Amino acid sequence: MPYKLVVQGGAELNGRVTISGAKNAALPMMAAAILAKGRTVLRNVPDLSDVRLMCEILDGLGCETSFENGVVIIDVVDETPVAAPYELVSEMRASFCVLGSLLGRRKRAEVAMPGGCVLGVRPVDLHIKGFKALGAEVEVDAGNVRASGDKMRGAHIFLGGSMGPSVTGTCNVLTAATLTPGVTIIEEAACEPEVQHLVDMLIAMGAKIQGGGTPRLVVEGVKALKAVDCDVPPDRIEAGTFIVAAAMTRGDVVLDNVCVEHLGCVIDRFSKIGIEFEREGQTSLRVRGPEQLEAMDLTTLPYPGFPTDMQAQSMAMLSMAKGISFVCDKVYPDRFMHIPEFNRMGANIRKEGNIAIIHGADYLSGCPVKATDLRAGAGLVLAGLVARGKTEVLAVNYIDRGYDRIEEKLKGLGANIERVELIPRRRRTDFTPSGRLKAA
Ligand code: EPZ
Repeated sequence: MPYKLVVQGGAELNGRVTISGAKNAALPMMAAAILAKGRTVLRNVPDLSDVRLMCEILDGLGCETSFENGVVIIDVVDETPVAAPYELVSEMRASFCVLGSLLGRRKRAEVAMPGGCVLGVRPVDLHIKGFKALGAEVEVDAGNVRASGDKMRGAHIFLGGSMGPSVTGTCNVLTAATLTPGVTIIEEAACEPEVQHLVDMLIAMGAKIQGGGTPRLVVEGVKALKAVDCDVPPDRIEAGTFIVAAAMTRGDVVLDNVCVEHLGCVIDRFSKIGIEFEREGQTSLRVRGPEQLEAMDLTTLPYPGFPTDMQAQSMAMLSMAKGISFVCDKVYPDRFMHIPEFNRMGANIRKEGNIAIIHGADYLSGCPVKATDLRAGAGLVLAGLVARGKTEVLAVNYIDRGYDRIEEKLKGLGANIERVELIPRRRRTDFTPSGRLKAA
């Protein structure tokens, strides 16, 4: 059923919120379950539509999956299926991650090319480059990637592209390399925490990997891996989203279940514009928003730089900051589809090439807006928190891909936000010429 989120602006957010497990760690970890027969258990998994979709994809690949109360169980019972169908892969790019595990363990894989999306061109050339370097035969035909790996051997691979490292590309090639005979060196590997957590899981499964979290991974192939029971780490992007929520509403919020180390760049940049941070124990972070946010010059970069997945949320905040801000996305230069939606609310943002120029507005006005991707949707909700009047955010399905009950968590901090069922809009064609509603 389609929904909209209706936000009444003006509330100051205060209190505590528990951050869920990381979507972008859970998905490659789920795909890695294919590497071993038996029962993999993942805990602290966020309840997201993307996680449920990955369960469906794994069910089609000989696994029996279950997901309840934050625990995903993946029982690999049949290792003959090797094809992930387009209708599922096209819904979520991350499903491409199963290719590496299938190739590593089953030596065969057929996965549809992931679809494009509003972030811009999203190629998989680096994934394919890595598999070919390992000696796999890879062909792209009719929208499918077919790979076979009977004669795979360890290799020295440079996996960076013109836009820097690839997160899921690193995950994909790494999983294939764990069961490939010989030593594989992956240079220009992605260093994101989500890759680090995948490395930790693979090592727990019996893989021999050095350099997790660094640009150089060294993998010594092993004959077999074992199923494990492990935790999904906290979601640093959800945490960043709630940092912005506190900052924009002059709030005082404590985030629980966060990994503060993984928020280093966000804390560094945001501290400069008046947001106060105070660590509470090992896994909590207190955030206080200033009376007036200052403008800033922000560039997104691969980790440990400022995350591109925090760009739209930051733009919401800067649309109300005093002065002129500049936002440049070096990871996805076209990730600015949310600018027109913010401007509908009274923001003053102009795109010049891959830079957004933001003149801080005195206020935003609530109105109907539409999410263009999951982070843009979150940014629009944040803008609604401070806008005058009511904001209705449509295409909430995007937000549900990456946020576990966002409206409940915001409501728990004092926000005035409701999830409302969308009544299908009647069209002229729903009525007979005499004006009577046609039978359903
Ligand atoms: C992951 O996507 C995340 N998704 C994205 O989060 C995130 O924005 C992105 O990394 C960058 O941090 C998951 O982990 C499921 P990339 P991924 O391959 O791996 C180019 C969200 O909001 N590239 O690291 O698909 C690419 O075009 C989502 O949670 C190639 O050129 O991103 C981009 O410019 C959105 N060739 C850059 O590299 C390739 O073969 C980084 O892409 C692959 C990528």
